[in-house]
Amino acid sequence: MAVPMLDLVAQYQKIRDEVRGAVDGVLDSQVCIGGPKVAECEKAVAAYSGCKFAIGASSGTDAILNALMSLGIGRGDEVITTTFTFFATAGCIVRTGARPVFVDIDPKTYNIDPQQVARRITKNTKAIIPVHLFGQAADMDPILEIARDRKLAVVEDAAQAIGATYKGRKAGSMGTVGCFSFFPSKNLGGVGDGGMIVTNDPALAEMCNIMRNHGSKPKYYHKYVGGNFRLDPIQAVVISVKLKYLEQWHEARRANAAWYDQRFAGCDRIVTPYVEPHSGMIYNQYVIRIRADKGASRSQVEAHLNQKKIGNAIYYPVPLHLQQCFADLVYKEGDLPHAEQAAKEVLAIPIYPELTEPQKEAVATAVLEAVGG
Ligand SMILES: Cc1ncc(COP(=O)(O)O)c(C=O)c1O
Repeated sequence: MAVPMLDLVAQYQKIRDEVRGAVDGVLDSQVCIGGPKVAECEKAVAAYSGCKFAIGASSGTDAILNALMSLGIGRGDEVITTTFTFFATAGCIVRTGARPVFVDIDPKTYNIDPQQVARRITKNTKAIIPVHLFGQAADMDPILEIARDRKLAVVEDAAQAIGATYKGRKAGSMGTVGCFSFFPSKNLGGVGDGGMIVTNDPALAEMCNIMRNHGSKPKYYHKYVGGNFRLDPIQAVVISVKLKYLEQWHEARRANAAWYDQRFAGCDRIVTPYVEPHSGMIYNQYVIRIRADKGASRSQVEAHLNQKKIGNAIYYPVPLHLQQCFADLVYKEGDLPHAEQAAKEVLAIPIYPELTEPQKEAVATAVLEAVGG
């Protein structure tokens, strides 16, 4: 049985009429930029994330870039982040003119290690970007404490983690500012690119609002150089419809994860995701480790799954400190060993809410056959 990595058609079939009605409403109104539908979506996402303000963005990437620009981060500044993340986290730092400082991860959760953050602070450090990877919140309390002591901004990259919780607090609401992505593969995905910034700081919210319109206020008067970082109304109405189902989809992902956890429990060649007891994980990805030290080979598992037409993906094969475009930052192999090891062993398998029991069985059987467990 073939199983895709993600089946958005299965999701769409259940909400098709609602989504089409909402999109038609935008088309009929011909309010194609901004307007009440974007404002409604912002209000709903702010409430859902426990924040006072939300500012729509053209993508998760632009949400991060806007947040950094609005915080005034630029040339000469350093921003500390994890090396084990999607490229956008660090790409945005470089685009402001600042320098990314990469640190290693906790090998259990794959999230940034707060102790290493503390060690890399210099007089030029302006911000920390923890990433809530795969849908599990980073260990925020020590990060927030470091930031408070040093007066640093904390920009939560919550692109993969809308709705995730840390000790009862929502991802995106703990730092200075939080950034979400509505890339279609996210738990809350649009029908194209989209994102959102959330914050409790009114001055920062206002700045993000100005920055997303090329830094102008009033229109055509530019005190700053911003960008076109706006969320489209068509994306906004789709997100507003889907937001109503989000908790239910998180639950279905959690149930699938629990099912896999149990199925893989007896196999010492596989490490299933570790979830902190205080963590409300939303499983944007279900990532297992294929243990080379126990004789298993990830490339063999990949090949077997591909042959059986079972979706799988490596997030991420190369940690950012070893990417060619960051060669001038002079990191070398061995500098951040936990992330480097994870990059060699991780494999994501299908976890989307609509997975059926026979599909899960097909995935788990194929993985177990391939590791020989
Ligand atoms: C951790 C992380 N940061 C940033 C982004 C960027 O989001 P987008 O693809 O919406 O620009 C993503 C999404 O892929 C992500 O996973």
